[in-house]
Amino acid sequence: MRIMVVGGGGREHAIIKKIKENKSVEKIYALPGNGGIARDAECVAIGAKDIDGIVAFAKENKIDYAIVAPDDPLVLGAVDALEAVGIPCFGPRANAAIIEGSKVFSKNLMKKYNIPTAQYEVFTDVESALEYLKTAPIPTVIKADGLALGKGVIIAMTRDEAMDAVRSMMLDKVFGKSGDSIVIEEFLTGPEVSVLSFTDGKVVVPMVSSMDHKRARDNDEGLNTGGMGTIAPNPYYTPEIAAECMEKIFIPTMNAMNAEGRTFKGCLYFGLMLTEKGPKVIEYNCRFGDPETQVVLPLLKSDLLTVMQATTNETLADTEVEFDGGAACCVIMASDGYPTAYEKGYEITIPDTVADSVYVAGAEIKDGVLVNSGGRVLGVTAVAPTLRGAIADAYGKVDMVKFGNSYCRRDIGARALLALED
Ligand code: AMP
Ligand code: GLY
Repeated sequence: MRIMVVGGGGREHAIIKKIKENKSVEKIYALPGNGGIARDAECVAIGAKDIDGIVAFAKENKIDYAIVAPDDPLVLGAVDALEAVGIPCFGPRANAAIIEGSKVFSKNLMKKYNIPTAQYEVFTDVESALEYLKTAPIPTVIKADGLALGKGVIIAMTRDEAMDAVRSMMLDKVFGKSGDSIVIEEFLTGPEVSVLSFTDGKVVVPMVSSMDHKRARDNDEGLNTGGMGTIAPNPYYTPEIAAECMEKIFIPTMNAMNAEGRTFKGCLYFGLMLTEKGPKVIEYNCRFGDPETQVVLPLLKSDLLTVMQATTNETLADTEVEFDGGAACCVIMASDGYPTAYEKGYEITIPDTVADSVYVAGAEIKDGVLVNSGGRVLGVTAVAPTLRGAIADAYGKVDMVKFGNSYCRRDIGARALLALED
């Protein structure tokens, strides 16, 4: 089979490495991929948002199956466009990808179908939003409606901060049109859990749970980032909580999308907060999470391509989706200074002995040498029978990967270990 993967980060690298395990795969293209992915797939310089370019490439190169991994092309309708020329895809159509593409849509969906989430109000004009904030409970959470590179959520600890956030989204348009509508919602507390799931619109099959570490520095200090590391499974996500989520969140969400005529097929990501009043949805994503994928897929024992095709063909109920009983840890290595100012162009050395465990996110090949081109450069994953073992192995491998100014958190998984010992 000839496979095309749209996207070019660590998540796509993890998907590609897993897909390669299937013997029927003869060729994998990555659009655009990156310098590190080039070890495992043929990278093609077509951007993930260039829908016409993606479709033309897929037709010309007789692609048998396409995997659209990032949010932007899904929301822009890449799957609809590929299906229109007869290419089967993994990923939701645009009318279902809206579950991530519009926070107003997803909040209203949850309200309509009684899916537990933070209380909220929607605003389309700045005056009403500011008026509401005069008496709203503080802290509060301000969210731009549309995609905002993962930065459209502001947790305001004071009333002034909340008002500034509203003005910057609605008047200064820091996130462009994504700030035309905003959601102001209740501030929730509790452990966060990421649950990725496969769904074909008939059944929803959760993958092993995981925990992201979003802050830049140890002890959850520093700025929010795209994710500095992950572990799986998440110890807070007990079998009892999993059963409650299945009943109150996962199945109701799948049914709600069907009822709206927006059947979701692909990977539906549930960002959950385990509050004192039970699990609540913080966010939906219409795709695999990054860097959650880098711990979830290495634990998948079943064949990923087979599961993906079952999702497309609506035969997921008859397909085995099995996970390893062990644990995984992924540590992100960044160029120090990320997520603000950081330098590019440092040569990256990845010994062959650890290459299989490295998922490259931001690197390019310059004059034959792999150099960093992004702030989050790569992730190093280890799988072991225990979480403690996975963490130790991941850091052991991290110390073998070298590039100038490299930085990583040293406490990925520490909180999870504490939770396990409680
Ligand atoms: P997102 O960019 O949607 O992943 O949100 C970023 C982070 O903001 C989440 O992972 C949560 O930690 C936090 N967050 C979002 N909504 C809320 C909320 N209602 N209450 C507390 N924290 C939240
Ligand atoms: N790790 C969170 C996300 O992929 O959005």
